[in-house]
Amino acid sequence: MKSSFQDEVRELMKKNRRETDGYEYTVPSPKSYPYQWLWDSCFHAVIYSYIDIEAAKRELESVVARQFENGMLPHMIYWEKVDGMLDIEWGKEDTSTITQPPIIGYAVCKVYEKSGDKKFLEKIYPKLWHYTRYLLNDRDPRGNHLIGIINPDESGEDDSPRFDVPLGLPPKHTLDENFKKRLALVEKNKACNFDAPFCMKNNFWVKDVPFNAIMVEHLYRMQDLADELVRAEDKEYFSEQADKVKHAMREKLLENGVMWPAYSEKYIKMKVATWAIFAPMLGKIYTNSEAEDIVENYLLSNDHFRTPFFLPTVSKSEESFDPDGFWRGPVWIFTNWMVYRGLLEYKMYGVAEQIRNSSMQLINKSGFREHFNPFTGEGQGAHNFTWGGLILDM
Ligand code: GLC
Repeated sequence: MKSSFQDEVRELMKKNRRETDGYEYTVPSPKSYPYQWLWDSCFHAVIYSYIDIEAAKRELESVVARQFENGMLPHMIYWEKVDGMLDIEWGKEDTSTITQPPIIGYAVCKVYEKSGDKKFLEKIYPKLWHYTRYLLNDRDPRGNHLIGIINPDESGEDDSPRFDVPLGLPPKHTLDENFKKRLALVEKNKACNFDAPFCMKNNFWVKDVPFNAIMVEHLYRMQDLADELVRAEDKEYFSEQADKVKHAMREKLLENGVMWPAYSEKYIKMKVATWAIFAPMLGKIYTNSEAEDIVENYLLSNDHFRTPFFLPTVSKSEESFDPDGFWRGPVWIFTNWMVYRGLLEYKMYGVAEQIRNSSMQLINKSGFREHFNPFTGEGQGAHNFTWGGLILDM
C-alpha cells in the first residue's frame, strides 16, 4: 500500500471525525450524511485499524452506545441534529428504529487482532452477544435460520432493485416513488410499536442474500471472539448457528447454483441479478464449483457485470439497470470489498486483484465519492465519502 493513499485516508477520516457527549464517531460524508450509521462505523473501524487503533475502538464504542433493550443496534444515531437535513421521523428521538447488516463481528475482530486489547473486547462483547441473539430470535421467529429484514434500508442498499417486487414498484421508477414506499414502512413500524417478529413481518419480510451471508461471517467472528474470552458454550452456539444459517441459505435461496433473496413466509424468490449473487462467497456458502461458475457466467461476463470499472451493483442485463441510479447500477467500494474478500476464500486471487485495482483507479480518477459510473468511472453522490478507505483492507 502506497503511503500517500494511507495519508489521504487519514486526512479524510480526520475531517469527518466528530465528538459529542464524550462519544467519538465519524460521519460518512459531512454534507450529505452528517450522522452516525451502523455499518458505516464498522467500515470506519476496519479503516482505522490500519491508521489509528484508538479511533477504531472509540468508533465501535459509540456505535453500540444506543443499543435497544431488545438488543437491536439502530442503523442511525443522531448525536447532534443538523439543520437543513431531511430527517425521517423514525419514532424515537435520537436514533432510527431499524438496523443494518452485522459487519460488527468482522470489525471487532479486526480491531482486537491489531490491538490485542482484551479490556476493549470484554466490554463490547456482551453488546455483540445481545445483538446477535436479537437477530437470531426476533428476526427469525419461526426458527427457519434465515434473518428477515423489515425495510430495504436494513440491507444498506436503500433503492436496490432486489426489493422492487415486495415494494410493489416496476423496474423503472423515480427516487421519490421509492422513498415514499420505504417511508410507508417506517410508519407501519411505528404503528407496530417496533415489533418485528409478530407485526412488521406482515408488511415487508425479506430474507436477503448479503444480510444472511454477512450474518454467517459475523457468527464465525463471534465464534473467534468467544474463543478469545474462553467462553466455550458461546463458541459452540455461534458455530452451530453459523452452520444453520448457511444450510438454510442453501436450502431456501439457492436455485441452479445461484442464490436469490426471498420474501414472505412462502419464500418467493426475487430473481433480479445484482452483485448480491456474489455475496455468499463470503462465509464460503457456495461450493467451489458454484463459485467458479458464478464468477465466469456473471462476474466476468460481458452480458452481466463486466464493465470498464468493476463491479456494477446491478447486472447490465436487468431492465432496472441504471449506471447513474442509486444502488441500481453504480460501483460502490463496500460491495467491491465484500466480493474481493469472498473471492479470496476461493483463492481466486487474479479476479480479486482486478476488483482491488479497479477500486483504486476509481478513487484516483474521481476522489472519495459515494459511488461511481461503471462505464466512465465518474464520481457520483456524496463527496468526501469514507468508504474508499476500505481499500486499505483489500
Ligand atoms: C445511504 C446508504 C447506506 C449508508 C448511508 C450512510 O443511505 O444507502 O448504506 O449507510 O447512506 O452512508
